Amino acid sequence: MDPRRFARGQARGALRRRSLVAAALASPLAAAGAGAAPPQPTRAPLSRIAFGSCCDQADDQRVWDAVHAFRPGLMIMAGDNVYGDVRSSSMRELRAAYEAADRNPGFARMKRELPVMAIWDDHDYGRNDAGAEFPWKQASKDLFCAFWGVAEDDPRRRREGLHHEMTFGPEGRRVQVILLDTRWFRSPLRRTDRRGAPGRERYLPDDDPAKTMLGDAQWAWLERQLRRPAELRLVVSSIQVLAEGHGWERWGNLPRERDRLLGLVRATGAAGVVFLSGDRHLGAIYREDAGLPYPLHDVTSSGLTKSYRSDEAGPNRLGEPLGEVNFGTVEVDWESRRVAIALRDAGGVERRRLDLALDALRAR
Ligand SMILES: [Fe+2]
Repeated sequence: MDPRRFARGQARGALRRRSLVAAALASPLAAAGAGAAPPQPTRAPLSRIAFGSCCDQADDQRVWDAVHAFRPGLMIMAGDNVYGDVRSSSMRELRAAYEAADRNPGFARMKRELPVMAIWDDHDYGRNDAGAEFPWKQASKDLFCAFWGVAEDDPRRRREGLHHEMTFGPEGRRVQVILLDTRWFRSPLRRTDRRGAPGRERYLPDDDPAKTMLGDAQWAWLERQLRRPAELRLVVSSIQVLAEGHGWERWGNLPRERDRLLGLVRATGAAGVVFLSGDRHLGAIYREDAGLPYPLHDVTSSGLTKSYRSDEAGPNRLGEPLGEVNFGTVEVDWESRRVAIALRDAGGVERRRLDLALDALRAR
């Protein structure tokens, strides 16, 4: 090697090491890569969005090649973005999970090249199926904010929870993305009486009116977001909103809260709502229309590295679940006012598809 090049390399290495040490002292995420570049609200219409969940930092992540090939203008990470369940307040496991994700070439490229909006689910919150009772949620939130580049002056830093909203595009072609926090405020769930039995695997519906999914502050915030103007609203919930027929985590475990969410869509007159969810390690599309101003859909994409084949009942599911690694895509044709939402496999091949007319997503 040219000794001058070597010397320059050494100097750069020393600089880099010094800045890593400085970053380690300054940031709760020691020696991890920089936070993602947060997306900016755009005047240009947003017409290509990808979404996904359940991305184990220790797994092969070849799926990202297909995500990039789709050329999304926005990537939505819907939770379990890493697997970092913790055993103590040191948060050692979650910190290590984020650091491993930053070293994973596929994940690192996504974070570097795509505008990302992210929300957590239980495994990047810090404990399986955890809710408001999780004792180290503030430490977990600090790690999340550092990893995802949440600015110091972002409202998420000052309030409880990580719910977040952004609207993209000009009037008449606006996409609003609402990220719900289904962890920070959530009341304990009612445990099943027959663990593993079909339809009651872990939890049973609980009608207790004192229990909450979003908490008062987030409910009030959500109502304000739904009253803002937008033509398409992607409401992202880490756990499934509409799915029936299984006893894993889902909004149906707190049926009053599920009714409240659908009732809020009705009461605010919010047009263009489509739910996006994750968590389940399967892909699926659900639809509800009873008592609603227009049909509501929930498109579950899970996971980016996790999958399993399920034969669960699906009274309101459209078609069969997709039991392979997958990601979701949303394509908006603003000319024809049509939206195509698809589940794609690791090769980018479309495997499930939902076609919607924007004008059908409003009260008649
Ligand atoms: Fe997961």
